[in-house]
Amino acid sequence: MAEGGFPPGFLWGAATAAYQIEGAVDEGGRGESIWDRFSHTPGKTRDGDTGDVACDHYHRYRDDVRIMRELGLAAYRFSVAWPRIFPEGRGRPNPDGVAFYERLLDELEKAGIQPVVTLYHWDLPQALQDRGGWPHRDTAYRFADYAAWMFERLGDRVPYWITHNEPFVVSILGHVTGEHAPGLNDPAAGFRTAHHLLLSHGLAVQAFREGGRRKGRIGITLNLSPVHPASGSPEDEAAARRVDGLINRWFLDPLFRGAYPEDMVEHFGRLIPLPEASEDDMRLISQDVDFLGVNYYSRQVVRHDPGELFLQMRQIDGPGPKTEMGWEVYPAGLGEILRRLHEAYTKAPLFVTENGAAYPDTVSPDGAVHDPDRIAYLRDHLLELSRVIAGGVPVQGYFLWSLMDNFEWAHGYSKRFGILYVDYPTQRRIWKDSAYWYRRVIEANAVVE
Ligand code: FCB
Repeated sequence: MAEGGFPPGFLWGAATAAYQIEGAVDEGGRGESIWDRFSHTPGKTRDGDTGDVACDHYHRYRDDVRIMRELGLAAYRFSVAWPRIFPEGRGRPNPDGVAFYERLLDELEKAGIQPVVTLYHWDLPQALQDRGGWPHRDTAYRFADYAAWMFERLGDRVPYWITHNEPFVVSILGHVTGEHAPGLNDPAAGFRTAHHLLLSHGLAVQAFREGGRRKGRIGITLNLSPVHPASGSPEDEAAARRVDGLINRWFLDPLFRGAYPEDMVEHFGRLIPLPEASEDDMRLISQDVDFLGVNYYSRQVVRHDPGELFLQMRQIDGPGPKTEMGWEVYPAGLGEILRRLHEAYTKAPLFVTENGAAYPDTVSPDGAVHDPDRIAYLRDHLLELSRVIAGGVPVQGYFLWSLMDNFEWAHGYSKRFGILYVDYPTQRRIWKDSAYWYRRVIEANAVVE
């Protein structure tokens, strides 16, 4: 394989998530989600932005799939809004809800684009939150019911299923720091959430395997980043190991080794009550998956800080350039993570299920959106990826985050990650330079200038 090249059949894609693009929150019998409730709570999102309209993808999906085809995408990763399928989170399914995804699958099929379906990208039905949400064990079983129903209904049409997107973010940002829905500040609830998300993943995988005639493959997506110490001091190195223990190992170890990392169990066990992790739970959680999805944006650099109670650390800025999120551009970290996974955790195929960058894009007087920083970011990460694959790590696909600008959670619409610019007042999609560039990459199956 030439420098910058990719193997034949490499799956080129782009990713989105339901609440970030669909809008139409009151249509088709959809129930309320925790992100509706959270974004409508004053002070929770930038400028009070909500996903009420978002990119209006619910109505514009046909046009959006047409653009995907023009881009040459081989695959499209999207998520299903659980409250469209089960408005109350459980009980009776809503036929209009699933019909939307069936129409979307029809369009993708006509366009020759493979669907990659995430079952949970953070939009828990509010009715389940009212019954305790993820900190409550029962929610894991409700997720498994929902997943099993989806497999039954769409199992013959979906080649790739992803149970969860970024359980770390759901657990910690949703339940400990409160930056995300449901906005709790309760560390013990955060760890119960992590356990129940993992358990629900295991239950869903089990349901998938039991179901017979499934053509597809099933996996989970984690956000992973290398954690580097700010200096070579033993204190900073220990701090880096703790942060790695939470972000990466707290999820990887149960999934691939059947146990939470001992050092971290000891560390957190001194601070808060941890949920009981029975042998049965751990067996379910560590069942074989068909692939692992990795979302990679940046690395973390940390310093020992005894004043911070939870991990005794402080995050510091790395030396590299920053995206508009303030995240350091660090392409080598993608290789570091993927190699580590393959060496230390799993021989299963890997997919980069998200990678991309926000920059302050504007429409130029010539009508174009010039985003050289995004192209540079993508190019450097893809070059790194191509080297990793050449080195023998089985990465089978890449999903750019994101197909289009969208509702960036607590940041609202202020952060643009798309390769399509969305002019929100008119909902017009404008190809950024990066979209034209990505089309050429896909065509060449190689990184291009
Ligand atoms: C990831 C999320 C995705 C998007 C990107 C920027 O953590 O999975 O929805 O917000 O970050």
